[in-house]
Amino acid sequence: MTFTQQTNQQLFDAFKRQFDEFHNGLPSRNVASKTLEIATEPLPENGSEFSELVNYIDSAIQPNLSASNGGRYWGFVTGGANPVATYADWLVTTYNQNVAKGGDSIASSIERQALSWLCQLFELPDSFKGIVTTGATSANLLGAFTARQFTGMQQGINVALEGMSQLDVAIFSATPHASMVKSLGMAGFGQNSWHKVDCLAESEAMDVNSLEQQLVIMKAENSPKSIIVIASAATVTGTDYDDLIAISNLCKRYNAWLHVDAAFGIFERLMHGAEGKTKGLEFADSITLDCHKWLNVPYDCGVFLTQHQGLLQASCEVDAPYMMSDANEVAFMSLGIENSRRFRAFPVWATLKAYGKEGIKAQVSRNVAQAKQLAQWLEASDLYELVKPCELNVVLFKPKANLAEESLTAMSANECMLKLNQTGEIFFTPGVWNGEPIIRAAISNWVTTEEDMQTAIRALGH
Ligand SMILES: Cc1ncc(COP(=O)(O)O)c(C=O)c1O
Repeated sequence: MTFTQQTNQQLFDAFKRQFDEFHNGLPSRNVASKTLEIATEPLPENGSEFSELVNYIDSAIQPNLSASNGGRYWGFVTGGANPVATYADWLVTTYNQNVAKGGDSIASSIERQALSWLCQLFELPDSFKGIVTTGATSANLLGAFTARQFTGMQQGINVALEGMSQLDVAIFSATPHASMVKSLGMAGFGQNSWHKVDCLAESEAMDVNSLEQQLVIMKAENSPKSIIVIASAATVTGTDYDDLIAISNLCKRYNAWLHVDAAFGIFERLMHGAEGKTKGLEFADSITLDCHKWLNVPYDCGVFLTQHQGLLQASCEVDAPYMMSDANEVAFMSLGIENSRRFRAFPVWATLKAYGKEGIKAQVSRNVAQAKQLAQWLEASDLYELVKPCELNVVLFKPKANLAEESLTAMSANECMLKLNQTGEIFFTPGVWNGEPIIRAAISNWVTTEEDMQTAIRALGH
């Protein structure tokens, strides 16, 4: 068996049928699969006919996938794959460009245009440059790298060349996303290295007075020498926004680096512009955002932006004689983690070109309205308690305590969530609010319809 046993026509035929079957079946399949393990079998010594592979996919794989690309998968913050991005992603595989360095293709230029369009979409100045990443986690990791390089520069250390053993840094944050904490570990600061800043009452947003008090003490003691502040816009559970104007002013005063994790919260800017909850985002030194969340492009795709491209480059610079580059622009391999890179900017570019700002804004606004509709239903229900007013696309709730036995309401939040998920009609993930377990619904998929809302509400009502 060689790579050439099947014709392109056979590939197209199988793909078209499977695409249609999967997409048409999304509304009726269980949102989460009940089968989670593939049957064990040894590595095939010899290959098989293409048709055998297709049959195996039809019978053993496709039926056991989740409907995360459908309208009622409300776990985590899960976007769908919009039609144009899906199409563009097929082409990405067809073209199979390596967007590592310029000089051989238009692909790098398209990535730069996509980044520039994202800045226009979110009303950010064109001083922000960056790179398309595999997601918000890798963008947060680049944030940690770039901040590390900045603090090194303040202390006369080129961290990328000399390491960080002499680096003297304090990191502050109120409610960093778990991926940011992971990134601090991967960047060598340590996952436990950051100082927790108090939150405002009933909120995950930073109490900026508390940050200021800690900075005043450090300044008086002249230690440590450099400061990094990690802000959230918005937090993944409460969708709370740190006050970026107040924080950026403090950062300016104390020569601190400001990284803002705005993975999905940045989309609020489409509804309320630069004067809404993200006011001051334009003063960040670096920003994380996700495209596989609310831009609804396929996995995996995020973005890292910084106003200090030179520091990002200093962190990620790669140089070898065989890696000759495009003379005018920094090669993307010197701005990110990978050397060889997928053309994942293309579905982003195609989405922005096909739908424009208004199209994306309409989609995001629809999800916010749907989340509010769900919150309203929960608030009025006898079975559930809405834990926090819904302000964006995330709804926090739990079963009401002390009602009839045998009903969902007698269960813990987690038991209740598992039971709801087992209906196959809906999929939630857990969260913690005010120290208590809760159920979390995040609506970020372009495909969610009014019918999905009604199906979900029916499932919640039983
Ligand atoms: C605020 C925030 N930051 C980072 C992440 C991590 O994103 P990813 O899974 O794309 O790495 C998430 C995911 O939900 C998030 O909500």
